[in-house]
Amino acid sequence: MSDILIESVLQERRQFPPPDAFRGRAHISSLEQYQRLCQEFQRHPQEFWAGWAERELHWFRPWEQVLDWQPPHARWFAGGQTNVAYNCLDRHLGTPRRTKPAIIWQGEPGDVRIITYEQLHHDVCQMANALKTLGVAKGDRVGIYMPMLPEAAVAMLACARIGAAHTVVFGGFSATALQERLQAAQAKVVITADGGWRKGQVVRLKPQVDQALAAGQVPSVERVLVVRRVGDAAMTPARDVWWHEIQAQMSPDCPAEPLDSEHVLFILYTSGTTGKPKGIVHTTAGYNLYAHLTAQWVFDLQEDDVYWCTADVGWITGHSYVVYGPLSNGATTVMYEGAPHAGNPGCFWDVIEKQRVSIFYTAPTAIRAFIKMGDEHPQARDLSSLRLLGTVGEPINPAAWMWYHRVIGGGRCPIVDTWWQTETGGIMIAPLPGATPTKPGSATLPLPGIQAQVVDRQGEPVPVNQGGYLVITHPWPGMMRTVYQDEERFRRTYWEQIPPRNGQYFYFAGDGARRDEDGYFWVMGRVDDVINVAGHRLGTMEIESALVSHPAVAEAAVVGRPDELKGEAVVAFVTLESHYQPGDDLKQELLHHVVQKIGALARPSDLKFTEALPKTRSGKIMRRLLRALAAGEAPQGDISTLEDQEILAALRQS
Ligand code: PRX
Repeated sequence: MSDILIESVLQERRQFPPPDAFRGRAHISSLEQYQRLCQEFQRHPQEFWAGWAERELHWFRPWEQVLDWQPPHARWFAGGQTNVAYNCLDRHLGTPRRTKPAIIWQGEPGDVRIITYEQLHHDVCQMANALKTLGVAKGDRVGIYMPMLPEAAVAMLACARIGAAHTVVFGGFSATALQERLQAAQAKVVITADGGWRKGQVVRLKPQVDQALAAGQVPSVERVLVVRRVGDAAMTPARDVWWHEIQAQMSPDCPAEPLDSEHVLFILYTSGTTGKPKGIVHTTAGYNLYAHLTAQWVFDLQEDDVYWCTADVGWITGHSYVVYGPLSNGATTVMYEGAPHAGNPGCFWDVIEKQRVSIFYTAPTAIRAFIKMGDEHPQARDLSSLRLLGTVGEPINPAAWMWYHRVIGGGRCPIVDTWWQTETGGIMIAPLPGATPTKPGSATLPLPGIQAQVVDRQGEPVPVNQGGYLVITHPWPGMMRTVYQDEERFRRTYWEQIPPRNGQYFYFAGDGARRDEDGYFWVMGRVDDVINVAGHRLGTMEIESALVSHPAVAEAAVVGRPDELKGEAVVAFVTLESHYQPGDDLKQELLHHVVQKIGALARPSDLKFTEALPKTRSGKIMRRLLRALAAGEAPQGDISTLEDQEILAALRQS
């Protein structure tokens, strides 16, 4: 782990107890109640989860075993059968929630759609029937490449209903990145849209799908279902079908398929330390329970809440806290199509005012961007409906936390800083807003049922306030089950970084953290070659592979540089093949090449040409030096292993 990270332990001392008005009606309303839940888990871990599973989910068939733990493989609620779409929809229909808005959607141009539970159920059944008509069966994979439209949620739930695994690919990924993920998952059908509105412009998606599938590059894909949003799209006969056309022919009758607890619900690709993204596999019952419970606990969902998580469905946050968690609880979830931009700096606050949002969950990068845009935008709107705020995706600096608290929360809303990952399925460390006193910049304490620690390389807990590795020491229902078709990578990445000891396994999160004297966790960031740009995970190797696939590039090294707005920014160091000359045109071409290969989110903020890269005598690139150079700092520590000391001097000048 970088020494700089460990040294940068925050010196934050402020504390914010839950406001009385909030605590009064909260599900978990005191620290004692939280501690009682933790003790219940410690005394009888399996009974703890079984109790919640029985009370909170519908089961077609009860389970035989709560947890079958064959490290690193966990099977939760084995022998049982349930269905996530049933839990999110059908079971609410016999209650007053039938006519309650399930989704309030707002398009960027200002158009609004309100979809009740009854209507959502109807649409999901129709889409499930459409998928069957297009040849999708239980166990197949379906790719979803969509803007933030209600149909994205409908598509996910339709897959869940019939037992097809979805793999959602963020709409900002390029055709090449989409192709790679569709190939890896061997998707049979792709659900997409002609396009959507983002930052005042129409972004077309269908042409990307066409490019990804061109020349039979993904032979598994047989059909493409296209939602109409912006107008028109070129359709390939016999392959492509419009959603509104097929919908008109579909029956709204499609019973939810009883599925085994461990039936695969979805595969979500995320960046790791190699050039190849990992397909994180989540299954039915454990994931459903964990997304459900954590949404209820951390967001303290009440019947009249209007809940808005700004994440895109292409990320795990969109899966767990736009779609599955809130709907399983029968909550009203807001979806917004666009993104704030200079032309509309108040658009988020307009949504809150117009829809009377009471719970707002977003990323620190967005908060920092709002600070820059100016207080006048939120101040010109009525934000009095808000009662709870949340953050996710990256560490939040105390200054941004305080601004969020004061300007958006009016000083009355608790803030839940939630630490978790694609792999964990749901929130792991976060305040319970009616119980846990918060400290700006800390995700506070593990949720009931979660055993988190900060340890050294040998798995020994480190002393208070010392940096170490964040690990989880007991399985939990929302945990990933494997890396799709790469069992070896699953073991190596998550379970062997800290070697098991005396039968104790450590789930290695890849994050550095410290615990303070109150046991609060302060997550400091990644300790591997993953960088976190604006709350989005990018593998340095992925960007390096994209760069070296350009004929001009001989070698590339990519590092993260601290960035005031985005948390981290991408910096690339590139050496060229002998017959190429560095220059501005080539630089632009290489930046564009990365966008083509991965997507705009991976575009380096800076690209430096260099004669050579600093390497150890054994040929390993010394990233530590590059990181320091990228951050404009003097490289620290031992550089005696640097093969060619002159490279450093040359790099400083580049
Ligand atoms: O480094 C941590 C950071 O985001 C990583 C997980 O990224 P991803 O799987 O894309 O999921 C993002 C949304 C859950 C973590 O390894 N991270 C996430 N939440 C926090 C965080 N870092 C600090 N504080 C957080 N609250």
